[in-house]
Amino acid sequence: MAERTRYAAGNWKMNGLRADLGEARAIAEAAERAQVAVLLCLPATLLAPAAAELGGARLGLGGQDCHAEPKGAHTGDISAPMLADAGAGYVIVGHSERRADHGETDEMVAAKARAAWAAGLTAIICIGETEAEYRAGRTLEVLERQIAGSVPAEASRENTVVAYEPVWAIGTGLTPTTDEIARAHAFIRSRLPDGGISLLYGGSVSPKNAAEIFAVEDVDGGLVGGASLRAETFIPIIEALEGTR
Ligand code: PGA
Repeated sequence: MAERTRYAAGNWKMNGLRADLGEARAIAEAAERAQVAVLLCLPATLLAPAAAELGGARLGLGGQDCHAEPKGAHTGDISAPMLADAGAGYVIVGHSERRADHGETDEMVAAKARAAWAAGLTAIICIGETEAEYRAGRTLEVLERQIAGSVPAEASRENTVVAYEPVWAIGTGLTPTTDEIARAHAFIRSRLPDGGISLLYGGSVSPKNAAEIFAVEDVDGGLVGGASLRAETFIPIIEALEGTR
């Protein structure tokens, strides 16, 4: 079987103005020589300028959410065809901040993944347990439910990447142990419809812990928030991923 694609994916969340595109440019230069796929999920406002400036570069561009419909009366929303038109090749769906702040259900996330595919985008589907669920020992049960509900059966290595992001690890500096990550990833892998789907870990990945996390079996890279905002912290994470396997 072909090796799974390894990804260093950045998620800028609601951060970044055009003045910050210098960071994306420096990351694009690192992507040029990288032996892994490097990608930045930018605020929608930065996609077109980033595509214009970095177009043709190996750096992949992604959005952070899309509506399930391709167009229509949905004030303030953005559709998958709009993201593709602006230069994106990827879109994150079901990030825990969307699930928490906007009440997104597994069913909505699955519809968004299908909308992404219809627009020719790769969907990065996020799943992960909350702190209360983790403390109650319910991690695998939650993951099972989220996979069943938010990863459509047609998901394949060509159209989907899955990110395991424990909610309690996002932006907190806390991470699960490598054993816990291995257990969660092996479980997720066993439930995915296609064994070739890349499976990323996300939640407080930093230059300090990246090599240890990326060495874990079944971890095909990272979805990185805070540390992806600056080239000086994201490039060492790209290099850590290149150093594994
Ligand atoms: P963090 O965010 O790296 O800042 O913890 C990760 C994410 O939410 O994708």
